[in-house]
Amino acid sequence: MKIPFVDLHAQYLSIQKEIDSAISAVMRDSAFIGGSGNKYVRAFEESFASFSGFKQCIGCANGTDSLEILLKAYGIGAGDEVIVPSLTWMSTSEAVGNMGAIPVFVDVHPTYYTIDVALIESKITPRTKAIIPVHLYGLPAEMDEIMTIAKRHDLVVIEDCAQSHAAVYRGRKIGTIGHAASFSFYPGKNLGAYGDAGAIATNDEEIALKCRMIANHGQKEKHNHLMEGRNSRLDGLHAAVLSAKLPFLDRWTSQRIERATLYTNYFLKSGIGLPGKPDYSKHVYHLFVVQVQNRAHIQSQLTDSGIESAVHYPTPLPLLQAYADRKFSESDFPVSSKACSRILSLPMYPELTEDNIQKICKVVCSANESVPS
Ligand SMILES: Cc1ncc(COP(=O)(O)O)c(C=O)c1O
Repeated sequence: MKIPFVDLHAQYLSIQKEIDSAISAVMRDSAFIGGSGNKYVRAFEESFASFSGFKQCIGCANGTDSLEILLKAYGIGAGDEVIVPSLTWMSTSEAVGNMGAIPVFVDVHPTYYTIDVALIESKITPRTKAIIPVHLYGLPAEMDEIMTIAKRHDLVVIEDCAQSHAAVYRGRKIGTIGHAASFSFYPGKNLGAYGDAGAIATNDEEIALKCRMIANHGQKEKHNHLMEGRNSRLDGLHAAVLSAKLPFLDRWTSQRIERATLYTNYFLKSGIGLPGKPDYSKHVYHLFVVQVQNRAHIQSQLTDSGIESAVHYPTPLPLLQAYADRKFSESDFPVSSKACSRILSLPMYPELTEDNIQKICKVVCSANESVPS
């Protein structure tokens, strides 16, 4: 039997009644296009804001757009610099570049993989306008230190929460600590739509209003375009699916944490590098990422056993071809570079059974012991 990396069909079957009736309602009302006139979009924005504890939530087309829209709303553009971690998904730095600004990469913490706060200040220049910490794999970045640095240098902090719905940092839900936050609801995320979707969150009414306009062609109301914006609305179908799923998010998060504990217990004496987390953070395990010595061998053994695995991510962002003109080398980002050659993401989702976790651990441990030298 195969063990998939993520099992969206199993999740659908577990809440089929709720999903089918949410989709039927949108079909009945033909409420397809988003914007504040769509009751399904508005209902999701309100319930996600109240679940997460921010005043304003604006649905948009995807997580990448939510970062770009926020950067534009804060007036960040050509010549400005924005600090981002060197280990994350491309969207974090791509959004900065797409706005004409320059992503300034900072290496990550060796245990937590989130931006290394001790290195941030050395990268700040008079052109620095913002920091985008990423709560990578579901673990909150060190937000207290980040906010202190931001205050000292008058910088905007946009939390990239794409991988961390419902994670908690020192008693506060992520997304409520910075000036604003960006969410992705890509299908495999901890809260996922059935296609691309995203949201912006903030307590700042003015920024919220700007984001709402930018995401809908710069319109304040129909045909009153105060600026050039873009088409980045959350669709009614996605909003209805997200509203149907939101009540399950706390349960799914607990199930992810239980599965992470099972993995940890099985691997305890195996020599496999386990994900670390500070006591004061709630890690929501969007991904369960271990460190291994011979990843290629372990991955091929997993594949032979019908078990899917993945690597998030094989290359630090600054070393990708996209940034070749900046002439970075591995020694500029030693922690990310080392991590990228060893990290391995194992299957992680609420429906993953203990039996299957045991099977995965057995294959990883025996492959780890039989590593060809
Ligand atoms: C850290 C991070 N930021 C941003 C995004 C962008 O989200 P989307 O795929 O919805 O554009 C993702 C999605 O994978 C992500 O993992």
